[in-house]
Amino acid sequence: MVRKSRPGAVAVVLAAGSGTRMGADRNKAYLPLAGRRMLSWSLSSIAEVPELVRTILVIRADDRARATSTLDREVPDLPVEIIDGGSSRHQSEYRALQYLAADIESGAVDIVLIHDAARPLAGPGMMRSAITVARQFGGAVPGVEVRDLVTMDEAGNLGDLRPEDRHVRVQTPQAFQALPLLHAYRAADAEQFEGTDTSSSVEKFSDIEVRSFQGDPRNMKVTFSQDLFLAERLLAGAHHRLK
Ligand code: CTP
Ligand code: MG
Repeated sequence: MVRKSRPGAVAVVLAAGSGTRMGADRNKAYLPLAGRRMLSWSLSSIAEVPELVRTILVIRADDRARATSTLDREVPDLPVEIIDGGSSRHQSEYRALQYLAADIESGAVDIVLIHDAARPLAGPGMMRSAITVARQFGGAVPGVEVRDLVTMDEAGNLGDLRPEDRHVRVQTPQAFQALPLLHAYRAADAEQFEGTDTSSSVEKFSDIEVRSFQGDPRNMKVTFSQDLFLAERLLAGAHHRLK
């Protein structure tokens, strides 16, 4: 589906997991959080990013009714294309790229921004940064520096990391030039490789440069039930709202 003659960036929101570690009665993406379903926070941020010309929501087939009613109720003004995901995060991403393949190959889509519904605090500013960095360099990953790491040997002896190494914890949204991203996922599929995040497949199967840009510690991932408390407080507190 081509909506604009100029190449555009597309948002892909991954919500096709089942949230097993949360232990709730449903996929965590649909849990209520500060007044709305978790995934609606990400979709509302996307709606504030003019560079994002389309939004793809990747769902579990079982969640289709829940997804459509949530969108109708909570993000009625954002056009969202809903597709079924796969059996892993990687497969869900690959489904989205296959769905977009014709528009990526025609040049209508130049950037794909991939975001986990499990990170409801990512704001529009971080999404725009990811798109800008990806357009310039190839790939963009938000990172938060980790300074409290030490090494440990098999006996449990601790040691210092090499001072020249810096370590970051990576987050989503991650953005990539669309064509090398699609090619990387096809190559990964041919080798039956599954990356834990998008950048691991891109780094293994493409030549594009993947740059880290400044993430935000408040852009937390909601994995366990205790994470809901902090996410709820952060989302409810206007002074914590991420740009
Ligand atoms: N995801 C997906 N398709 C899958 C698995 C995960 O789209 N087959 C998405 C999740 O919906 C989530 C993101 O990838 O937004 C990060 O995954 P994670 O936090 O692990 O979520 P779940 O897989 O749902 O949770 P769990 O691993 O606890 O079951
Ligand atoms: Mg998972």
